Amino acid sequence: MLQDKKILLGVTGGIAAYKSVYLLREFVRRGAQVKVIMTGMAQQFVGPLTFSALSRSPVFTDFFDQNTGQWHSHVDLGLWADAFVIAPLTANSMAKMAIGLADNLLITTYLSARCPVFVAPAMDLDMYAHPSVKKNLEILLSRGVHVIEAGEGELASGLSGKGRMAEPQDIAEFVQQFFLSSQELAGRKALVTAGPTYEMIDPVRFIGNFSSGKMGFAIARELARRGAKVFLVSGPTALTTDEPNIELIRVTSAQEMYSHAQKIFPQVDMAILAAAVADYRPAEQAQTKIKKSDQDLVIHLVKNPDIAASLGKIKRSDQLLVGFALETDNELRNAREKIQKKNFDFIVLNSLRDKGAGFGVDTNKVTFVFPSGEQKAFPLKTKAQVAQDIVTQIVKITNESR
Ligand code: CTP
Repeated sequence: MLQDKKILLGVTGGIAAYKSVYLLREFVRRGAQVKVIMTGMAQQFVGPLTFSALSRSPVFTDFFDQNTGQWHSHVDLGLWADAFVIAPLTANSMAKMAIGLADNLLITTYLSARCPVFVAPAMDLDMYAHPSVKKNLEILLSRGVHVIEAGEGELASGLSGKGRMAEPQDIAEFVQQFFLSSQELAGRKALVTAGPTYEMIDPVRFIGNFSSGKMGFAIARELARRGAKVFLVSGPTALTTDEPNIELIRVTSAQEMYSHAQKIFPQVDMAILAAAVADYRPAEQAQTKIKKSDQDLVIHLVKNPDIAASLGKIKRSDQLLVGFALETDNELRNAREKIQKKNFDFIVLNSLRDKGAGFGVDTNKVTFVFPSGEQKAFPLKTKAQVAQDIVTQIVKITNESR
């Protein structure tokens, strides 16, 4: 249940605001303490008194109370909450969240909140399908906001389609599951590799690849969210993380990544290898910048260590090893070969042939392939959601082998 959890319920101005009354009751029924923030427009749909009576707490509607002159601190509200649930979230408030437009107490509180944030969008079907709304939702997802997707059905406009706010019970269940899963990996340790590797040719040039590191970072975050201590060994990326449960170790080359992975692996319960490691490096690295000449330049490449295969060789029966395969053709056959060669417990296969999968983008379309040959295919999802699926699978295997 949600016993003793402190939930801040944000209500923005859509007709689904009436359903938030039921959501509040659902949270209270599950044992949560609830405080409510409403935008000006939300109060046009439902009066604050209804929320105040049901939450047994004053409703926050502005930065200060007009009658008493009392200041409501958005920082204190954000710090008080274990979760901030914004339901319904209108297209307007979603856009403000995406760009950080702090013109009311609700959005300002969102910007200063440190707790997990959940949103349940609600709008008409054409608005929900609009590219700007889709983009804003993607931005929120990429920043770690948990989106409880709108459902399909009859809408207040009389039209029918996707845009109905999720049912109050489903929203409460989603939040409850979030808290339940947050300790699933408590006491566990994980190694994650991420990003590309750069293999230096001379002090200013390298051989690299387009990996952004987004998938590996998303996995590290999800493992940490569920209570694991994570060692994230990352090649050069623009990404960073300040989560206390993640120790970020930045490396440049495959050899450096290899030596850190070798050192860390014996202490961890699992390793997820999302890095796009360069298979070859220049045999020699010039100490000074190579000058051009009239001749062609030939660079002799030697093989890099295979981090995955080396960990597969020393893997204990109580450890789990998960690999990635990015393929352009013969996907399943290649994935199966890699599982065997590298001793993976399962492999996350993505094909460059799938639109929305691969380097740089925020989405991915994956299939899990298991040593038995069994496969689990997923639709196109955000990398954060793919990370959730991967970690859920890891938890499942860990629980089964107990
Ligand atoms: N990997 C690794 N070390 C390497 C190469 C790959 O740890 N030197 C890991 C990757 O992180 C990934 C998996 O192995 O989890 C598969 O990588 P991939 O490059 O697709 O496989 P390769 O075996 O290198 O085969 P190929 O490049 O021929 O597809």
